[in-house]
Amino acid sequence: MITIKGPREFDKMRRAGQVVARIHRELREAAVPGVTMVELDRIAGEIIAEEGCTSNFLDYHGYPAYVCLSPNEVIVHGIPDEREVAEGDILSLDAGAIFEGWHGDAALTFPIGEVPAETRALLDATERALWAGIEASVPGARLGDVGHAIEAVAIEAGLGVVREYTGHGIGRQMHEEPQVLNYGEPGKGMRLKAGMAIAIEPMFNMGGEGTRVLADGWTVVTADGSLSAHFEHTVAITKQGPRVLTLP
Ligand code: MF3
Ligand code: CO
Repeated sequence: MITIKGPREFDKMRRAGQVVARIHRELREAAVPGVTMVELDRIAGEIIAEEGCTSNFLDYHGYPAYVCLSPNEVIVHGIPDEREVAEGDILSLDAGAIFEGWHGDAALTFPIGEVPAETRALLDATERALWAGIEASVPGARLGDVGHAIEAVAIEAGLGVVREYTGHGIGRQMHEEPQVLNYGEPGKGMRLKAGMAIAIEPMFNMGGEGTRVLADGWTVVTADGSLSAHFEHTVAITKQGPRVLTLP
């Protein structure tokens, strides 16, 4: 795992994060009924190039796109295809960018038009869990504290916590040590120190926590077909507290 050694490195990671935030904003605006997933992916590719960045997703273990687009019961790693955005869907967008060797990675799930209150509650709880994990990410805390804070939100909301996919260290590579679990025991696990950077990314299901990978080898869906939400930020641990790098 890397440590951010000074302000110049921090600023580069922050810049990568801002590009990710721009992808989130522009794709969310573009995601109106009838637009295809590949069209959204194309826009992400244009933004990455225009910002002088490169993609950390494209060609990652052979992954064929700039972003992951995961509708409804797809938990993560949905490959953009000719599917159209549809009214009443929820859509998870996971995006990343590299600026001068430093990585950003973030995800959100948003509704297309109107969705039932129960669906909004799934999105709200998953986003709340992300922020609970961020707030727990202070120097001296342990990864178990972060995972516990996330899991507690799922339990309270009666949602399934995805266990097979996790957050991760991030910096000079998209995926570095340590794994950042979305569950845990307070006081257990690696101690966080200033200079570390982690991607925190709860995935909650409306039903059970089971997952299944489709035949394309990437697309992860809920085993029971229930809806799933995913929120992620890249976070630097600093003496002043957590700094979210993937905000605008
Ligand atoms: N961004 C994802 C994560 O949060 C990883 C994407 S894998 C890729 O860890 F292959 F799609 F790039
Ligand atoms: Co990630």
